[in-house]
Amino acid sequence: MTPYLRVDNVTRRYGNGAETVDALRGVSLSFTPGQFVALVGRSGCGKTTLLNLCGAMDFPTSGTVALGDQVTTGMSDAALTRLRRTQVGFIFQFFQLLPTLSAVENVELPALLAGDTNPRARALELLRFVEMDSMAQRMPHQLSGGQMQRIAIARALVNSPRVLLADEPIGNLDTTTGELVLNLLRRTARERQTIILMATHSLESTSFCDLVVRMRDGRVEDILER
Ligand SMILES: Nc1ncnc2c1ncn2[C@@H]1O[C@H](COP(=O)(O)OP(=O)(O)OP(=O)(O)O)[C@@H](O)[C@H]1O
Ligand SMILES: [Mg+2]
Repeated sequence: MTPYLRVDNVTRRYGNGAETVDALRGVSLSFTPGQFVALVGRSGCGKTTLLNLCGAMDFPTSGTVALGDQVTTGMSDAALTRLRRTQVGFIFQFFQLLPTLSAVENVELPALLAGDTNPRARALELLRFVEMDSMAQRMPHQLSGGQMQRIAIARALVNSPRVLLADEPIGNLDTTTGELVLNLLRRTARERQTIILMATHSLESTSFCDLVVRMRDGRVEDILER
């Protein structure tokens, strides 16, 4: 299968002068639709930096990141906004739901921003996919961590992105709830052909993935197929 997400010889240097940090030092990776990938390595090895580059939230110092035939460097701001809204979904360790919106309204928000004037049916369908349809009207403070993360996954999928970036998605969940979320992510990769890149410190969680990319000091140390 043709890769959809390609990272070619990427470096990322933060800061300037004496204060520079080389967060990525020449990373090349490519991923095909449906792959669930774990990104592991000790704190500071460059996982979050790489996720941000893949989501076009940040740009390489050298090298290129491409989603399909779109290289993120050199795109107009309008094209980048469109790329982020339609091709990429994010989920985070602390869920980051908007506290003043209900569960279903949180899921609808990215669709509204992308110009869909009536995304309710789509949002409810995704709430069924994450088995949260019975709690559509709840406010975030009325949900458990695992329930909030399932809402966040539904929100990340509402525009049917090709790529889902997950930064420590189970870092705040107990083991059982974490496994539920990991199963859901695996099902998302399979059934929706989404590429999922998941930064994680949990070695157990890598058993849910197809590939494990081990990073060290801004480089890929090795890639394991599961
Ligand atoms: N905005 C920034 N400015 C300067 N340095 C940064 C910035 N963001 C990250 N870094 C540095 O870049 C390196 C890689 O950071 P990154 O956040 O990618 O690591 P990580 O693998 O996600 O770590 P963790 O497991 O702790 O989340 C670290 O040395 C970090 O201090
Ligand atoms: Mg990180």
